[in-house]
Amino acid sequence: MGKKIKAALLGAGTVGTGVYKLFERRSDVMEQTVGAELELKKILVHSLGKKRAGIDESLLTDDWNEILNDDEIRIVIEVMGGIEPAKTYILDALHAGKHVVTANKDLIAVYGRELLDAAEEQHCDLLFEAAVAGAIPIIRPLKQCLAANEISEVLGIVNGTTNYILTRMFEDHMDFETALAKATELGYAEADPTADVEGMDAGRKMAIMSSIAFHSRVVFDDVYTEGITKITSKDIEYAREFDSVIKLLGVARNTDKGIEVGVYPVMLHKDHPLASVRDSFNAVFVHGDAVDDAMFYGRGAGELPTASAVMGDVIDVARNLEYHCNGRISCTCYKEEPVKAFDEVKNKFFLRMQVKNTYGVLACITKVFGDHKVSIARVVQKAAEGERAELVIGTEKVKEYHLKDALRELKEMENIYEISSVIREY
Ligand code: NAP
Ligand code: HSE
Repeated sequence: MGKKIKAALLGAGTVGTGVYKLFERRSDVMEQTVGAELELKKILVHSLGKKRAGIDESLLTDDWNEILNDDEIRIVIEVMGGIEPAKTYILDALHAGKHVVTANKDLIAVYGRELLDAAEEQHCDLLFEAAVAGAIPIIRPLKQCLAANEISEVLGIVNGTTNYILTRMFEDHMDFETALAKATELGYAEADPTADVEGMDAGRKMAIMSSIAFHSRVVFDDVYTEGITKITSKDIEYAREFDSVIKLLGVARNTDKGIEVGVYPVMLHKDHPLASVRDSFNAVFVHGDAVDDAMFYGRGAGELPTASAVMGDVIDVARNLEYHCNGRISCTCYKEEPVKAFDEVKNKFFLRMQVKNTYGVLACITKVFGDHKVSIARVVQKAAEGERAELVIGTEKVKEYHLKDALRELKEMENIYEISSVIREY
């Protein structure tokens, strides 16, 4: 009784404020759950002068060395974001024998190996549950609960902003710009929403999950990313007509020829469990040889939801400290599988194009597809307007580069005015 475990928080923004609140809210039960009282001793911020409602100002510092050189601080909670100085601070902390909890997906998706190696060398914990899908427990389930499985596929709706935008476009017929403005107003989007709408934010989360699910390091550069900015209301209407929805999906597969991983808009049949994940919610769908299908659902961002995952990690570190077993589960990448070039990946496609409304055009198009080994699954032509007709073609699974070659040739043809949409189907 009376034992204390001291921690420092790096950052007091959205997530940091949530972590601070949970420290306060849960302090009375920490002794029972952890076996010691958890105390926040210092908070590192950028601007000391900033007003921070509800935060004890005496804890604030802008000097990292005050935390690094304080031997009483055993746990460092990094919620500043960005690559530097976060990476240096985490490495400093680990080298000083401190345990680290972080929510920083940008960092883990690129420097995960280096940071985990440093943690392992020091027998320290480096936990990052909040880095993927905010509140949703997925890192721990993949590393521990599903450890008996050979995982073959991980599908994720792991960006709240884009899921919110696509939901509003589908359900309220909102256009992209209005939906993005609303997502920004609601605080889902990053200050610069490029990483959200262009798929990079989701790409980082897919790199982290793929590394863990397939036991082989995948970094952000390995992930093909394509955003949702080209999705139009016409595409949404066709999706509706085909009993589908459009989702920005992270798709990772472990195949005999290597790991396939990408983030792109997908037409998903409404019967798939991920099709019902609406608004800013996130979900991860996993297929393993023993568990079969499993889905994890919840809030992927926000002050308290993200802090919930961070605090879960902090409590784990504290328990490990109590039982002297920190560093028990570190990097689980014991294989070195190749990551496939995305051009070699096979997908089904939805293609929308504007063509000349005359005889022989369809025959020319199907010939080009045939020449490039693209097999057609369906063709839809709505009423033509004068000279122009809109054609919608669905393909069977085809290698990305075969489709690209066919589209390049089609774009050159006189009777094809425009390839309006190219969307993958699941
Ligand atoms: P944020 O609101 O921008 O807060 C960042 C905090 O870090 C601020 O308090 C800032 O200080 C401090 N900071 C930044 N650079 C610093 C530096 N060089 N030295 C000292 N302090 C510094 O960010 P956030 O939304 O809380 O996100 C934090 C991390 O959590 C990021 O890695 C993010 O990707 C991850 N994450 C966020 C969410 C979410 O919903 N927001 C969800 C999952 C994961 P000042 O206050 O003085 O400016
Ligand atoms: N901007 C991110 C999202 C926040 O929309 O999901 C969490 O990473």
